[in-house]
Amino acid sequence: MQRLGINIDHIATIRNARGEGHPNILKAAMEVMKMGADSITIHLREDRRHINDKDLVDLSKIKKIPINLELANNIKIINLAIKCKPNFICVVPEKRNEVTTEGGLDLKKNKNKIKKIINLFNKNNIRTSLFINPSIEDIRLSKSINSKCVEIHTGKFSRLVRANKNYNNELKKIKKCSKYANLLGIDVHAGHGLDYKSARLLSNIKEISEFNIGHFIIGESIFDGLKKVIKKFKKICK
Ligand code: PXP
Repeated sequence: MQRLGINIDHIATIRNARGEGHPNILKAAMEVMKMGADSITIHLREDRRHINDKDLVDLSKIKKIPINLELANNIKIINLAIKCKPNFICVVPEKRNEVTTEGGLDLKKNKNKIKKIINLFNKNNIRTSLFINPSIEDIRLSKSINSKCVEIHTGKFSRLVRANKNYNNELKKIKKCSKYANLLGIDVHAGHGLDYKSARLLSNIKEISEFNIGHFIIGESIFDGLKKVIKKFKKICK
């Protein structure tokens, strides 16, 4: 069955709106796990707009919660991550002024820097992943720098699905990349912008072993409650 990683960044966004402790991130992570998540994803951004250092430190202490930490090439964050030892990391690109992670890494340009990060986490026995666009060249580069997984950025695909536009080309690209990565022995994940329909379409790609979903789950919970929303996604995961 495909794993479901739930990104709880936006629970921290709500908390930070009041600058106090509610809703509590640790409680949220534990509840989400009880409701069927396979792991918790958090992105410690350079501007700390949602998850903060203390969240990472505290969450990492709860050993029964598998933590997937998204991080950019930032030495302070990398050092903190090595100390906290999350179960998994995913290297993502980061721009200060973006609303969200708008695309995959530019692996061609940043190959050497990213290779160092991957080597460091591999040596520390932390599962490594790279957030990439659906591109065969990027899969090849991911293999060459020894990343154990890739997470395919599904933002463009999700947007087309949501807008009822033709998504076939994008779906084909994701399928082709997933098969190729699988052939090279790289574990394939997918994430960004996914909702019920786009996740359902991608769940037919058997090479995808994990989804990481955040914004839609937290947003939809306003109407349906977290439990029901997570249950629906668990049904979608094949
Ligand atoms: N995967 C990665 C690598 C991400 O950066 C994000 C967004 O933080 C997600 C998944 C989740 O995207 P969304 O919140 O749109 O579901």
